[in-house]
Amino acid sequence: MKLTLEAHGRTTSVDLFSRQGLELVAGLWVKLYAQYRFTHDITWMGVPIIQFPEDIMMMQELIWKVRPDVIVECGFAHGGSALFYASFLELMGKGRVIGVDVEIRHYNRIAVQNHPMSQRVTMIEGSSVDPETVARVRSLIRPGDRVLVTLDSNHSKDHVLKELMIYKDLVSPGSYLVAMDGAQALVWDMPSGRPEWREDNPLAAIEEFMAQNHEFEIDEHFTRLLVTSNPRGFLRKKT
Ligand SMILES: C[S@@+](CC[C@H](N)C(=O)[O-])C[C@H]1O[C@@H](n2cnc3c(N)ncnc32)[C@H](O)[C@@H]1O
Repeated sequence: MKLTLEAHGRTTSVDLFSRQGLELVAGLWVKLYAQYRFTHDITWMGVPIIQFPEDIMMMQELIWKVRPDVIVECGFAHGGSALFYASFLELMGKGRVIGVDVEIRHYNRIAVQNHPMSQRVTMIEGSSVDPETVARVRSLIRPGDRVLVTLDSNHSKDHVLKELMIYKDLVSPGSYLVAMDGAQALVWDMPSGRPEWREDNPLAAIEEFMAQNHEFEIDEHFTRLLVTSNPRGFLRKKT
């Protein structure tokens, strides 16, 4: 079976069952997912979680591998991803989530406070790159805690680069700094996309960060399903 795509004045033709065919279909599926906003139509235990299902699955694999004491999440939104991490920590019998967002809406805060997993979640309102916010996050981490960090807030290159530079120091050796939504670089040309996303995206921040920070390595294991919003986003701190 041949697959032919015409885009941006170029025609690409590949065998569907080849690696290129797989990558082409996965890339197109990511664009369709984003265009149809499927990620905005998923809930975890009743609370919206703005993630691809494949990425949710990869995060549980990652949490099981790292067994963190603390997960710091920049970009809390409704709290669905934080509650998902908290649920998995509950199953593991240890750990807590610190969720940071520049604005935690009242009804989201109440819903999280009344949720069965609320005991494992602490919410902090403030910009993830504001020194005061960072100090509050740090104050909740105890010496010896094993820390995993996810970045899912403002997806501009500058903001993600600042977050990477700030939060890298919190990550424990062998644990991960997960920079989400690098796929913004790949969906700029969908009907609801924006041309500036082509350059201004988390993936560009990851590449710049990785060129300068040799204490981290990109782990492609957690993006192996190819349908992901987080290409090259799993940065493992070397031991
Ligand atoms: C994509 S949503 C997060 C989705 C959430 N992690 C989930 O999976 O359900 C992005 C969030 O980042 C927040 N945000 C934007 N700029 C921010 C900043 N400077 N600091 C912290 N949060 C920010 C927004 O308010 C929004 O709630």
